[in-house]
Amino acid sequence: MRNKIVAGNWKMHKTLTESQALITEIRGIIRDEFRANTAEVVVCPTTLALPSSVKLVEGSSIFVGAQNVHQETQGAFTGEISAAMIASVGATHVIVGHSERRQYFNETNSACALKNKSSFAAGLTVLYCVGETLEERETEQHWAVIEKQIEEGLTGITSEEMHKMVIAYEPVWAIGTGKTASSAQAQEVHAFIRSLLNKKFGEPVAEATRILYGGSVKPDNAAELFAQPDIDGGLIGGASLKARDFFEIVKAAG
Ligand code: PGA
Repeated sequence: MRNKIVAGNWKMHKTLTESQALITEIRGIIRDEFRANTAEVVVCPTTLALPSSVKLVEGSSIFVGAQNVHQETQGAFTGEISAAMIASVGATHVIVGHSERRQYFNETNSACALKNKSSFAAGLTVLYCVGETLEERETEQHWAVIEKQIEEGLTGITSEEMHKMVIAYEPVWAIGTGKTASSAQAQEVHAFIRSLLNKKFGEPVAEATRILYGGSVKPDNAAELFAQPDIDGGLIGGASLKARDFFEIVKAAG
């Protein structure tokens, strides 16, 4: 039985004060209305809000994650942040390979593999994102694209390290567009990803790995998506910026 995860990716939204207000609100709603949540809840605010967010969730069941990490442990990489730095402020998760990073910052599968590796070395749990563009889906290339993202992005990762790996399937055409993959479309790809993990790492790892869906998850479509056998929660963008909406999605995950 895989424990579901609901992770909020706040992207480049919210100042420090706004981030603190949102996290306090989310924490309050979960505490007051949903004490028995079993899903793992993660919020990924701006890097600047990581330390204070960690303090604000203390004593709750909420985890804090970063949105990106550099692959090297240290060095002359102006503006970058290492996995050890993220872990040093008490954050426990990190998003790697989000499509916006692939698209706007030329992040490749091989860079993702190095980021995954260095994140594990620092003890972080990785939310590794894969997913096809609209053109790739329309030309039926999505299977090959996803297979390559899994194959190359998990290069050098051991079965042991896979315990700290969460995959997020995020079709690029569904991110921030209001267009969600149907639950059947998502389930089909999730099952495919699980079969790839099975080939690469064997059945126990494939069965234990959480695979999240991301792309316009909302309170009104979350329950149906999360009911699919291979969908183990969601990576939420827009709806994670509203405490009430995010909470409804957490509730749908149980
Ligand atoms: P969205 O974003 O929920 O706003 O579509 C998802 C994501 O980018 O992780």
